[in-house]
Amino acid sequence: MRKILITGALGQIGSELAVRMRDVYGNANVIISDLKAKETHKELIENGPFEVIDVMDKDRMAEVVDKYGINTIVNLAAILSATGEARPDLCWSINMNGLYNVLELAREKKLSVFTPSSIAVFGDLTPKDSTPQDTVMRPGTMYGVTKVAGELLCDYYFHKFGVDTRGVRFPGLISYDTLPGGGTTDYAVHIYYEALKNGKYSSFIDKGTKMDMMYMPDALDAILNLMEADSSRLIHRNAFNIAAMSFDPEEIAASIRKHIPGFVLEYDVDPIRQAIADSWPNSLDDSAARAEWGWAPKYLLDDMTKDMLEKLSKKLNIKI
Ligand code: NAD
Ligand code: SER
Repeated sequence: MRKILITGALGQIGSELAVRMRDVYGNANVIISDLKAKETHKELIENGPFEVIDVMDKDRMAEVVDKYGINTIVNLAAILSATGEARPDLCWSINMNGLYNVLELAREKKLSVFTPSSIAVFGDLTPKDSTPQDTVMRPGTMYGVTKVAGELLCDYYFHKFGVDTRGVRFPGLISYDTLPGGGTTDYAVHIYYEALKNGKYSSFIDKGTKMDMMYMPDALDAILNLMEADSSRLIHRNAFNIAAMSFDPEEIAASIRKHIPGFVLEYDVDPIRQAIADSWPNSLDDSAARAEWGWAPKYLLDDMTKDMLEKLSKKLNIKI
């Protein structure tokens, strides 16, 4: 039976992954942790074990691993792309030293590790369309640098020490439970909130800028399915391209207008996040993930929009 520790569990992915994992593995077997408890996630914190863990503190993490007999760490503690450009020192420090502490603990205590990578591993020299699984990885952001280095470090621990490390390169993730934490793709979440609240949105990403995106339920499936995949089938490990949909701001606005016809999209482009978006792929080739562990997304843009607007209108108590 898995005993899982999730770091950074109160963020955009963790807050939903924790619920899904507790359904699958049992509440007592999924220990969630973050820098501090958050009032917004009271229910999650109260329906199973919660521990305060800073991933920079390896001894504290070891104490929790021993306390619960943890055998798997899902490492979600990180600084994302836009915050990473504002605070490259912090981004390097948390993304690299945090992961190093997780991998060292995994080596010492024979744990499995899942840690997400990102489309941010790619840069200007990478083919933009149908970006291959194995290709040029020369990112232009500190976040991307930490994600490439993280992939290499995870591979190193697998080959050198036999640590079972696995990961996916997530595109921009769209969800309604927890707001995203400082990324370039965040516009594709904010747009739904603003469409419901004000009927208009001012995008910091320019028209015509396509990026790969995914709805959170597919992202959670990817984590669970890869974690449980037969190890002998995995040729790649750190990390798999996965893809679901690719769109620009005009396309997501058109999808929203099918439900809110008067929705207005305006632009107030942020040059820093625009430069990051311009350096990332338009769409990924995810054939390795499909072949090696059966990856197949369920949501395309219009399915996601319908579900997002339904769930968000309930959450915000706004009728469409
Ligand atoms: P998030 O910013 O929403 O959450 C990160 C969490 O980590 C936060 O709750 C934060 O409090 C916590 N944290 C920060 N520093 C910490 C520290 N020192 N110790 C412990 N916890 C700390 O991020 P997310 O979107 O949930 O992303 C999780 C992982 O997935 C990251 O590795 C990220 O790079 C990757 N990813 C996310 C996306 C996306 O669109 N959300 C896309 C690609 C990859
Ligand atoms: N959504 C993430 C970001 O924009 C991609 O890794 O930073």
